[in-house]
Amino acid sequence: MSTARTIPLAGKSLPFLGHALPLLRDPLAFLSSLPAYGGLVRLRLGPLSLVMVCDPGLTRQVLLDDRTYDMGGPIMDRARKLVGDGLGTCPRSRHRRQRRLCQPAFHLDRMPAYGAVMADSCNAASTSWQHGQEIDVTEEMSTLVMGIVAHTIFSATAPQISQNIRDDFKAISKPAFWLMVMPPVFGRLPTLGNRRYQRAHDRLRSTVGEIIATRRPDATDHGDLLSSLLSAQDPDSESEHQALSDREVTEQVINIFAGADAAGPTLAWALYLLATHPEVEERLHKEVDEVLAGGPPTFAHVAELKLADRVISEALRMYTPTWFGSRVVTGDTDLGGFQLPAKTMIGWSPYLIHRLPELYDNPDRFDPDRWLDSQLDREAYLPFGAGGRKCIGNRFGINTAALALASITSRWRLRPVGDEPLNPVVKTMLAPHGVRLRVEAR
Ligand code: HEM
Repeated sequence: MSTARTIPLAGKSLPFLGHALPLLRDPLAFLSSLPAYGGLVRLRLGPLSLVMVCDPGLTRQVLLDDRTYDMGGPIMDRARKLVGDGLGTCPRSRHRRQRRLCQPAFHLDRMPAYGAVMADSCNAASTSWQHGQEIDVTEEMSTLVMGIVAHTIFSATAPQISQNIRDDFKAISKPAFWLMVMPPVFGRLPTLGNRRYQRAHDRLRSTVGEIIATRRPDATDHGDLLSSLLSAQDPDSESEHQALSDREVTEQVINIFAGADAAGPTLAWALYLLATHPEVEERLHKEVDEVLAGGPPTFAHVAELKLADRVISEALRMYTPTWFGSRVVTGDTDLGGFQLPAKTMIGWSPYLIHRLPELYDNPDRFDPDRWLDSQLDREAYLPFGAGGRKCIGNRFGINTAALALASITSRWRLRPVGDEPLNPVVKTMLAPHGVRLRVEAR
């Protein structure tokens, strides 16, 4: 049998930096180059060493077996400090209980109430635009989505407090990627950026904590996520752990904000792809006009917006915002014929898997209709992950994206400004950062 040492090392690894330079210079090309080394390849990012999985079957094996491949390792330890010790960041030993307690907040029967908030917010955003206006599509869509998330969590909170929460979350998420991958000492330096980050981090926790303390004695179901988290009961846990404590609810709320951050880039990519593929955009206009029949989109329309759904699926395939995930091996194991010792850090990337030509014909082509093909391997499509840690907000995210697309395309046609080539930047999320689109009335 092979040993972990025989897993090939990707291309040129520089002393100290490892593969950080090619990843920074052209992250997508770097990721796409990795499958040429085989099912597993070793990478070094500064002081971190990890094994990257490049095969769809092995990726699913890792995601489905959370006993052997747990949330942990240095990147996840830092993520926990940044975005809370909650559902998305906690180890398996605490995950099952938390998932059971959070699941009701995302149950299908709560979606219509969230859908009403989504539809109102999307309509308000798209009616505020002017013909000829240029928008930074990532900023605009992230603001829209964060507004929706804040409102669906805290429906009963004063707008100014909700705005403070969004501002603080934004201030935390901006440097998050660097704080996760750089040695921890950089985060402790007394720089202006680090002080700003710390202030936002502390204020966010205290604001959310105060809202929870006020809402805890109130048994009214406001129909929002917070009501559901506060009232959740888990009969399978010991009595003192049957409900989430105030501190746990705070951590979940921040984790949910962090997870939902992926929905903004999803929408931004979908709009960018439509703007650069006018023939698909025109077909979408036809669908939206027929389904909406001149009225504003509502939650009830989502199921009828079939092409919009395929556009979102294809945007999520080509540019999965959550482009990188990590796990830690809990005990010596074997993966794809290689031995992995305990504590090996594993990386997985839906971006990398979604561009494999053996899975998708012409994988770099934007083709929403490929999703009409029933032969397409749905198991290898992993924008939301798989197994016990699969995204809890997938329906929430898709519904938000569908309503926003319908609302925007019912009024506007978007066009790229200039012909600058796309230059994706590595951050926590893969997004068309800095891309501007011009809004034209239809
Ligand atoms: C539409 C775009 C979205 C994408 C592409 C996305 C992607 C993902 C992925 C890949 C994971 C699993 C990570 C892993 O296994 O390493 C995840 C987990 C999670 N997501 Fe999402 N997500 C999206 C939207 C949302 C929304 C809208 C919410 C909340 C409102 C959300 C909340 C979460 C949470 C809490 C987890 C942790 C689940 C667990 O470990 O049990 N996500 N997401």
